[in-house]
Amino acid sequence: MPAANPESRVSLCPHMRAPVSVPAVDSRPITQRLKEDNWDLHELAEHDRVPQAMVKGEMTRQGYVELLKQLWVVNRGLDAALVAARATTPVIADLVSDRQLQEQYLRADLEHFGVDLESIEASDAARAMLGHVETLSRTDAHALFGLHYVREGANNGNKFVAMKLRKAWGAEGESGFRYLDPYGKDQRPLWDAWKARLADYPLTEPEKDSVFIGARSMFEQIIALHRALEPLAIA
Ligand code: HEM
Repeated sequence: MPAANPESRVSLCPHMRAPVSVPAVDSRPITQRLKEDNWDLHELAEHDRVPQAMVKGEMTRQGYVELLKQLWVVNRGLDAALVAARATTPVIADLVSDRQLQEQYLRADLEHFGVDLESIEASDAARAMLGHVETLSRTDAHALFGLHYVREGANNGNKFVAMKLRKAWGAEGESGFRYLDPYGKDQRPLWDAWKARLADYPLTEPEKDSVFIGARSMFEQIIALHRALEPLAIA
């Protein structure tokens, strides 16, 4: 992945007595920045023990269900925060569709595995993530959108992970895999079209910065959630 853009440049204004560092505007589309400058965290997230156990087909159904439970807790909270933020934040109203809300897929998967949703207890990592969502809801809705960008983008790899788990477990169809593979064969075209809409979306520079910062924080939160689940999710 290319290196990050320089964060500042030196002013050449002849009226300045000394060189002054001023913030540079990042000319890349926000989507390019989101991908390139977060790939370090993607590498960390992808190669952590829990995602690797899944993609190698080594995770048990029981471990998978434990993971789904915590993902249900955090994504239910994030869905609710995004739905509320549609009223105030155009990029969320325009780009977060009902189909992209993830609680519905997690609920279907957990019901498939016979889990009573009422019995689920949030882990400390899930509670920390819910606290983060709540803080951003109050302070920075564009960062909240950044959280959503990462969970939506993660579907690209999750589809592949679902394929590997199906093969390892001799499972077929979408039951139990709705969260990992919500769009089936439409995954890539939907992602490309959505990214194109975001690239063209009118956001101010500070709003773009917030989306970016939110996205980075989502990678960190998901990594923490996965690590906390290692004892339960990896046999
Ligand atoms: C075994 C685990 C994983 C695999 C195999 C994987 C694989 C992939 C692949 C193939 C893509 C598409 C790259 C492209 O467009 O060229 C992708 C995109 C993405 N993945 Fe992953 N991934 C994994 C785990 C994760 C995790 C755990 C997260 C979140 C914490 C994540 C977040 C994303 C995001 C946000 C994108 C979109 C990048 C962008 O275009 O901005 N991935 N992943």
